[in-house]
Amino acid sequence: MDRDIDEILIDRHQIAERVAEVARDITQQMADRSIEGELTLIPILTGSFIFVADLIRLLPVYMQIRLMSVSSYPGKATSTQGPKIHHRLTDLPDDLSGARLLIVDDIVDSGLTLRLVVEELKKRKPASIHTCVLLRKQRPEAEAIHLDYCCFEVPDKFVVGYGLDYNDRYRNLPDIVTLRDEVIRA
Ligand code: IMP
Ligand code: MG
Repeated sequence: MDRDIDEILIDRHQIAERVAEVARDITQQMADRSIEGELTLIPILTGSFIFVADLIRLLPVYMQIRLMSVSSYPGKATSTQGPKIHHRLTDLPDDLSGARLLIVDDIVDSGLTLRLVVEELKKRKPASIHTCVLLRKQRPEAEAIHLDYCCFEVPDKFVVGYGLDYNDRYRNLPDIVTLRDEVIRA
């Protein structure tokens, strides 16, 4: 697997340090139990699963976790084919009234996934919606999306590792990397 790597963009130590920083910000800003409404984390599967596992263990906060599954890169696609919600793998109550939602995703690229998720969640009447992502690509569509928390900006390249995949592989790489051209073309 390692020989498929072209470049390490963000290594495991940088990730750990930055995730801890963002967790501190979230704790300070969102953990206050005197604010009305229970904190509800909404991880977007599958790409966010490693990020969210690290993040939540650094949030010493009373919270619910409700999963949403959305995908837009079927198989070997490296650009969005339009996001779709997988209802069978999604565990959302119809009524989220009063809840303070924190959406957690792996990466913002075209921004379509986050837009779809926010629209879907708004229908359930939460008290508030905040967003937290591991990565944002440096391209205008991604930069146009409002994010409350973002760990890193990355160049507009296809990246894998720390939960992000190519054709469902490479999610277990501990660093965030680009792949060699031959691997993606194969
Ligand atoms: P968007 O809808 O184009 O913003 O893309 C968001 C989703 O596509 C993310 O949640 C990822 O699952 C996936 N994605 C976007 N860019 C990449 C990438 O560079 N590598 C792996 N997955 C990506
Ligand atoms: Mg995703």
